Amino acid sequence: MKKQATTAATICVHTGTQIDPAIQGANTPIHTSSAFGYRGTPENQYPRYYNTPNQKAIVQKLCALEQVEEGLLFSSGMAAISAIIFGLLRQGDHLVLSKEIYGGTYAFITNELPRFGISYTFTDTTEPESFAAALQDNTRLIYLETPSNPLLRLTDVAAVTRLAKERGIVTAIDNTFASPINQKPAEFGIDLIMHSGTKYLGGHSDLCFGAVVGSSELMKPLRKHAINLGGSLNAETCALIERSMKTLSLRVERQTQNALEVAEWLEKQEGIRKVNYPGLPTHPQHELARRQMKGFGAMLSFELEGDAASTERFLDRLQMILPALSLGGVESLICASAKTSHVKMSPEERAAAGVSDTLLRLSVGIEAAEDIIADIRQAMNA
Ligand SMILES: Cc1ncc(COP(=O)(O)O)c(C=O)c1O
Repeated sequence: MKKQATTAATICVHTGTQIDPAIQGANTPIHTSSAFGYRGTPENQYPRYYNTPNQKAIVQKLCALEQVEEGLLFSSGMAAISAIIFGLLRQGDHLVLSKEIYGGTYAFITNELPRFGISYTFTDTTEPESFAAALQDNTRLIYLETPSNPLLRLTDVAAVTRLAKERGIVTAIDNTFASPINQKPAEFGIDLIMHSGTKYLGGHSDLCFGAVVGSSELMKPLRKHAINLGGSLNAETCALIERSMKTLSLRVERQTQNALEVAEWLEKQEGIRKVNYPGLPTHPQHELARRQMKGFGAMLSFELEGDAASTERFLDRLQMILPALSLGGVESLICASAKTSHVKMSPEERAAAGVSDTLLRLSVGIEAAEDIIADIRQAMNA
């Protein structure tokens, strides 16, 4: 496309695609080379320098969606997270994070950072004041995740970035749950945006990658560290991602619409104790969600009446919704948080975190909403 796209739907389809003028195919050709000529080129190209044509095609799309300048693609979401942390922090620095955070991020922080002399504080995601209280003179980075997993609690992103800017602290966010279709954190002053692209960006539960995007000022030094850390992505996966991202907006809009329908239905059912979804007026931060999110997302969680055993029986009876790890695919996926993301916690720790044995997290797919509801209904009634 010759004109620069500005709407998400058009960016998803066209931005970044590098049409070969000789052939004029609609897609970026897959450049499998790991050896590129260096003479007469503006930069040396190499997969681990994060600058090959297939990597650039996706980075341009994602940067246009997130309204930022530069980005890097990694072989997993965790590689993206570790590049942010090791790229920005050094011995003696302090990091503040949302308390409700992806388990892999929690494990990485708690297992790896002490060895490097980097300290950290996990703090309540819902209270900007608790972020303020957690800050220290040596705090260099605030790392958020909103909406949170599995309770879909929100962090007031603008309030946190205000605080951070007053003190010259860099902010980063894991935007995986919302996707760039439903939340654009740069609008609220976030410096670095991270995605586990394995989820909505990939969208078909068939590939693994991560991304970090942000301003050139921050991304340029981060690229140098990322080159040393070496978690780059191959061209074949990039081509699959480019294909996937062409339908990102379409998929996420449908998933978000379905999630609202399912959440509204669940809330009216006997046998359901609680539904957590930012799009419901009963969500304690619904007003913040309206301010901060463009759509309320396609992740929700609910608590069944009963106990761990009856919850397992409910999962056994599902006929379409797949009990599985991961999220963001076209197919609806469900998991018991106590058995998956929070399995390493003691029952007491889980209770304190608000994760009961009957809490189920649902990643709503693109199927017909009535079929998703029908599957839950028959599994509840059986
Ligand atoms: C919110 C969130 N962030 C980060 C990650 C890590 O991504 P990956 O598994 O692609 O390394 C995950 C994975 O489940 C996730 O759910």
